[in-house]
Amino acid sequence: MPKTFSKLSSSTFFFHFTLLFFSATSSGSFSNILSPKKFGLKREKLTHLHFYFHDIVSSRNPTAIPVASSASTNKSHTGFGVVMMADDPLTAAPDPNSKLVGKAQGIYASAAQDEVGLLMVMNLAFMEGKYNGSSLSLLGRNTVFSRVREMPIVGGSGLFRFARGYAQAKTQTLDLKTGNAVVEYNVYVFHY
Ligand SMILES: *[C@@H]1O[C@H](CO)[C@@H](O)[C@H](O)[C@H]1NC(C)=O
Ligand SMILES: *[C@@H]1O[C@H](CO)[C@@H](O)[C@H](O)[C@H]1NC(C)=O
Repeated sequence: MPKTFSKLSSSTFFFHFTLLFFSATSSGSFSNILSPKKFGLKREKLTHLHFYFHDIVSSRNPTAIPVASSASTNKSHTGFGVVMMADDPLTAAPDPNSKLVGKAQGIYASAAQDEVGLLMVMNLAFMEGKYNGSSLSLLGRNTVFSRVREMPIVGGSGLFRFARGYAQAKTQTLDLKTGNAVVEYNVYVFHY
């Protein structure tokens, strides 16, 4: 009798212990408050990046291609509704053959009916020096005929973790016949 009792109580104890253990670890691993310093985030830096963006829509090898449009896009003088997928080279100088520092990969779409205003959703994937493999995510409004367009940088990866800031785009050259453009970018980001 005492043997059975002790067996029962130890298994009950084990059951409760297991329950306690699992509930403790599951609630503990979902979220934790960390010390930014201990996590390696020491000092926030402000970095300026300067490069040229090449959007080639008319060529044997376009870097931006239309992927969707509406039946009414043709009738819109702003191309309202067209969606483009881009893998545009980013170079150190306006010359397309100058050093490749990254690629702007993502979508731009005509989102305005009264002026040419693009919705830009792009990852700036860098390959230059220590920034190789790091990226910045840009999400903004690009009224391409304005002298300077400002678009938010909403995040980043690698060396640009926790990034936030803005990009200023200024058209360097635009061929109205082909639609090909070279755009100067100045990007300012806070990151660690
Ligand atoms: C737009 O116009 C072009 C040329 O007229 C035509 O080939 C194309 O199918 C049209 N696109 C749509 C979505 O209507
Ligand atoms: C960037 O990193 C990739 C992958 O790690 C590597 O293959 C490539 O050579 C690097 N490029 C430069 C320019 O350092």
